[in-house]
Amino acid sequence: MILRAEGVRMFYGDFCALDGVSVRVDTGEFVSIIGPNGAGKSTLINVLTGALKPSGGTVRFKERDISGIGPVRLARLGMARSFQLVQVFPDLTVVETLQAAVVSRLGRGTRVFAWLGRDSEVREGALEVAELFGLADKAHTPAKHLPQGDKKLLDVASAFALYPEIILLDEPTSGVSTRDKHAVMEILVSASKRLGIKSIIQVEHDMDIVFGYSDRIVALHQGKVLADGPPEEIRANDDVVNTVVGRKAGAFERGA
Ligand SMILES: Nc1ncnc2c1ncn2[C@@H]1O[C@H](COP(=O)(O)OP(=O)(O)O)[C@@H](O)[C@H]1O
Ligand SMILES: [Mg+2]
Repeated sequence: MILRAEGVRMFYGDFCALDGVSVRVDTGEFVSIIGPNGAGKSTLINVLTGALKPSGGTVRFKERDISGIGPVRLARLGMARSFQLVQVFPDLTVVETLQAAVVSRLGRGTRVFAWLGRDSEVREGALEVAELFGLADKAHTPAKHLPQGDKKLLDVASAFALYPEIILLDEPTSGVSTRDKHAVMEILVSASKRLGIKSIIQVEHDMDIVFGYSDRIVALHQGKVLADGPPEEIRANDDVVNTVVGRKAGAFERGA
């Protein structure tokens, strides 16, 4: 395997946001993290990506302790992420944003801006990702002028442009209309195949998406893992249906 957290605890002051969480993600897996607001999903993503140092327990990526590792070293190791709240530079265009990611992947981080728009490998890499994400016709639009859904896509696309082995996405379809969520998921799946991304972990609220795309689902509740298993097992778990999925969706899924 790739990524493994064991007995992770995370305190914010006195408040325990993660209380002994153990999860692992294997090569080739699509894992969804679900749970009510405040369950600790974003905190877990932050711990799994080394952005937060856990108060207890360990996080290992390819057998290395990654707590406190910065995003640049993380990407070099083969892990990338996107955030719950979009983090794009408003004045950079779509293609400039993706070029910056490609440049950093190519290890030219110290001279990012000297390379922008000049190097054909950088340009082609950025355009390829723009096309995969359906953003090619907006290649020269500044991020700040994109509709919210496209801003989110661009944020996710820049993580993909790092060509990681594993990618962690915190609510990649938030702010995207229900109708478009499936389209976004199709893009994520085909882009990962095309770019050689082996594993995806996502936080997602839409249960159609969660049950439709995941190999495995981890349900969090009050900082603890409530359940961890394949979709059919999670669907049949009354605790999860009552606290996370909601009775209606659970009944619908089971009746379907
Ligand atoms: N920086 C922080 N300081 C204090 N409390 C926090 C901080 N970040 C998150 N929390 C609290 O930790 C809990 C889990 O938050 P979070 O991981 O964002 O949950 P989720 O993503 O599942 O909605 C919440 O109760 C939240 O208010
Ligand atoms: Mg969150």
